Amino acid sequence: MNLVESNSETIKKASEIIRHGGLVAFPTETVYGLGADGLNSIAVAKIFEAKKRPSFNPLILHIADKNYLHNLVEYKDTRVDNLISKFWPGPLTLVLPKKDIVPDIVTAGNPTVAVRMPNHPIALELINESRTPIAAPSANKFGHLSPTTAKHVQKYLGDKVDLILDGGKSFVGVESTIIQYHEGGFYLLRHGGLAKEEIEKEIGEIKSGKIDVNKPNSPGQLPFHYSPNTPLHFYNESLLDSNKKIGLISFQKNKIDFSFSSQKVLSQTGDLREAASNLFLFLHEMEKENLDLILIEPVEEKGLGRAIMDRLRKATYRHTNQ
Ligand code: TXA
Ligand code: MG
Repeated sequence: MNLVESNSETIKKASEIIRHGGLVAFPTETVYGLGADGLNSIAVAKIFEAKKRPSFNPLILHIADKNYLHNLVEYKDTRVDNLISKFWPGPLTLVLPKKDIVPDIVTAGNPTVAVRMPNHPIALELINESRTPIAAPSANKFGHLSPTTAKHVQKYLGDKVDLILDGGKSFVGVESTIIQYHEGGFYLLRHGGLAKEEIEKEIGEIKSGKIDVNKPNSPGQLPFHYSPNTPLHFYNESLLDSNKKIGLISFQKNKIDFSFSSQKVLSQTGDLREAASNLFLFLHEMEKENLDLILIEPVEEKGLGRAIMDRLRKATYRHTNQ
């Protein structure tokens, strides 16, 4: 039985699991979260594995100290500080430009990261004891409701987490409100436990809709999904061209006889968890190498392989259809 009553002893044990790269489900005031060390890419990959999400979604980093935020993000706008001093700890998540320390798998390749400070003593003690920000989505399996009790979590994910901390019922009961700060404007990404009107009292009008990063200051329809600017295709022999600078991202060791300008291996041992943890990082790194083309090998569609392939289909689609 991995469901335990929260007390200083079990929270300490939970923090050790987090520090060793394991998964802990924990209560927050909104819903229960499925937590891992937010600075450890492999630990974060385990979250996607456990949730059985068919794709990667960026995750929220949970912190226990307002000042710690500055290690994770960069912004210069006192209205953001006003929101933090007024509403943290609480059900408000802020999406801000990330610093390098935040792993790419946490943000699913996006240049921004979502952060919040939960208003729950057990969550705060766990984050403090773990001495790291905790990445956590709601602790449900894909397609199910967000859990508001430890029993719900056990039902959905009991065999997938190392420990479930029982802290009673989440008293807000709905997820946090998510606001993105982008080039001087605030955008509502998700309604949640804190009313939009309350936030607008502090900072004025909040815009709705997704942000088109190519058109500063205008909400557009572009999804927030990351895809590299260099053309990206699944590996296919007919795309090999010795006049082009081509990068190859192979799943395991490359056996293709061609002189690639750059090569990376997602996992030498064929471990999908390791592959997932490297995926966005490698795409970013190759994007900076001024290649004409990036080729990537498909992976087997089992476990995390499904999420990897879903992400890659979206990222290659853009280049196949231009
Ligand atoms: O109340 C909550 O927010 C709960 C508790 C556990 O904190 N967490 C939660 O996480 O609901 P999750 O992963 O189920 O939902 C987070 C949402 C996702 O829809 C994700 O797409 C969005 O936040 N998100 C995270 N990072 C983002 C980013 N950098 N840009 C845009 N959206 C982001
Ligand atoms: Mg969720």
